Amino acid sequence: MSEAWREVEAPATEIAVRAQEPDDVAALAELLNQPQVVRGTLQMPNTSAEARRRRLEGETDAVRLVAAIAGEVVGMGVLTRGRDRRAHTASMEVAVHDAHVGQGAGAALMAALLDQADSWLGLKRVELCVFADNVRAISLFERFGFEREGLFRAYAYREGRFVDSLAMARLKGLRMADSPPSLDLSAKSRS
Ligand SMILES: CC(C)(COP(=O)(O)OP(=O)(O)OC[C@H]1O[C@@H](n2cnc3c(N)ncnc32)[C@H](O)[C@@H]1OP(=O)(O)O)[C@@H](O)C(=O)NCCC(=O)NCCS
Repeated sequence: MSEAWREVEAPATEIAVRAQEPDDVAALAELLNQPQVVRGTLQMPNTSAEARRRRLEGETDAVRLVAAIAGEVVGMGVLTRGRDRRAHTASMEVAVHDAHVGQGAGAALMAALLDQADSWLGLKRVELCVFADNVRAISLFERFGFEREGLFRAYAYREGRFVDSLAMARLKGLRMADSPPSLDLSAKSRS
């Protein structure tokens, strides 16, 4: 079976991906305050650096990576593993500083997080949610083998309106075409 995400090439720019360290927190708090990052995620605008710092330092039960270009932290990626009967899954988040989008940091973070999922955690399923109009992010995720599973309507409130979100997932060794979802949403429920 072909696993398309394995064919993604490394980005051209020299990007170092490594574990998040305590010294990165100030740069990451600034990154999470960027207008396009707030727009593309569930971050709230006008959040103090201190509140972001507390959150970044508090969440330890996850794989947290940063991407750096010439020593400057430009992106972050998080893989949060499910528990108990969902231990074969993880949710993924990626964000790149507004000033550094389109330089390959997002792809480098995705490649590293998925290598962790595949080669070190043995995960079956990696999932994420992305606003349905976030074309750049969706195309990046699809490049790495994520497929569209469904639509959450009015998922979040953004810039004065409700916005839909796509549920996407990448299942190791299982493409949607090989195993289409069985749920028929048009079927009437029986009591
Ligand atoms: C989504 C995000 C992580 C991508 O990071 P990035 O560093 O810009 O990603 P890369 O440079 O590695 O790749 C971006 C890809 O999108 C493509 N792209 C850029 N703009 C695009 C557009 N308007 N439409 C379609 N594709 C687009 C690029 O061509 C590139 O693909 P390629 O390498 O095949 O050419 C980044 O834009 C971001 O952090 N956005 C704000 C936060 C966010 O939306 N996070 C995702 C939440 S689910």
